[in-house]
Amino acid sequence: MPRIYIETYGCQMNVADSELMLGVLGREGFVRTDDPAQADVVLVNTCAVRDHAEQKVLSRMGELKRLKRPGGVLGVVGCMAQRLGPRLLERVPQVDLVVGPDGYRGLPELIARARAGERATEVEFKSWEHYEDVPPVRGTQISAFVTVQRGCDYRCTFCIVPMTRGPERSRKLEDVVREVTDLASGGTTEVTLLGQTVNSYDDGTHDFAHLLRAVGRIAGVRRVRFTSPYPTDFTERAVAAMAETPAVCEHVHLPVQSGSSRVLKRMLRRYDRDRYLEVVAALRNAVPGIALTTDIIVGFPGETEDDFRDTLALVALVAFDDAYTFKYSPREGTPATRLKDPVPDAVAGERLERLVAAVRDIARRTNVALVGSAHEVLVEGRAKRGDLLQGRTRTNKIALFPGPDAWIGGYRDVRFTGTTGSTFTAVPLDELAVVG
Ligand code: SAH
Ligand code: F3S
Repeated sequence: MPRIYIETYGCQMNVADSELMLGVLGREGFVRTDDPAQADVVLVNTCAVRDHAEQKVLSRMGELKRLKRPGGVLGVVGCMAQRLGPRLLERVPQVDLVVGPDGYRGLPELIARARAGERATEVEFKSWEHYEDVPPVRGTQISAFVTVQRGCDYRCTFCIVPMTRGPERSRKLEDVVREVTDLASGGTTEVTLLGQTVNSYDDGTHDFAHLLRAVGRIAGVRRVRFTSPYPTDFTERAVAAMAETPAVCEHVHLPVQSGSSRVLKRMLRRYDRDRYLEVVAALRNAVPGIALTTDIIVGFPGETEDDFRDTLALVALVAFDDAYTFKYSPREGTPATRLKDPVPDAVAGERLERLVAAVRDIARRTNVALVGSAHEVLVEGRAKRGDLLQGRTRTNKIALFPGPDAWIGGYRDVRFTGTTGSTFTAVPLDELAVVG
């Protein structure tokens, strides 16, 4: 049987897409291997959101092409494949296949053609494509990513995603419910619903509020997460559904991008600073104790020191639990590349450092205040180092604590005993269970 190796870069949707590809190829008799040197087919699932992500993949390709076996196939899939298309074949002569996010159904055929010596590119958008008939092959049973929406119809001026993932489309609610029901009957208790603007979910009949309630009702589903919502796509109905559906976790990743209304406008985000703060207030009001994380870009064209200070002030005001922070990276073909007043790299770098320090400082303060509190965690496995278990709270905090392997996959109550500033040490509350 042919062996397939997939390496995944970028966001959770790419992780879910790799599981889909394993499903497509599994049906054709491919078996998975964790060793690229043993593989007949090596696929690299890529991200195009920042130049840095692409450079990382290119240097990794340099290593993988040396491992290629005679008759083996090397493919680049995902957003960078979609963005560069045939240019990737020119750039890396050992690459046989270039396939974008809507082309995974064709992988078996494309691989067969590559084996026959053909080099192929498949980068057509298929707005009907949901891979509805493909059962994903998932890495773990404990928690599952479930794609509910593909593509993006927004046009944030910095963002390449609409060009790499095509138009927005939502899966039918019944199909999502069927998949999650199957997962739950296989023992999965936590699902993360995925979409680029997941709360604009709309299958023609049902909206995001319907979706949350329907998934939250499925027997065996104990935790529902979703990522990433667009700040102004939370309807009152959606916020009410979050508050009233016990399984929906008290954490929202709410990308703000900038704290300056002037910059937000140039980014073509559909809210200003005040509107974002209103959304934060509505979420906090409806879901007490909700944790909020975000994405922030610094050095967007035209960003002044005052704009940047607005971002720092917003970070302090909202007191995010965590933030992914990025230096603006111009993406070919996006509107922002035509904006004037680029921010010098050194200035952007310096702002990024200040922002990272501010985010860390605020997160630490929030987390220190949580030491001593008790939380339910889903036990995900052993921590990378040491012999502690690693669990995750409903608010998406990570706790390390002692316990037996038998707890993995289950839920425990723990008390936080300390924090590094971002993660926690903890003790299980149920000491009898430790002995037993
Ligand atoms: N709607 C998607 C966004 C995908 S991109 C989602 O929220 O899942 C993920 C993050 O990368 C964005 O929120 C943004 O902060 C960052 N990003 C996107 N394009 C970028 C660029 N050109 N330069 C720097 N950061 C970027
Ligand atoms: Fe990108 Fe904006 Fe869509 S960040 S993915 S264009 S919502």
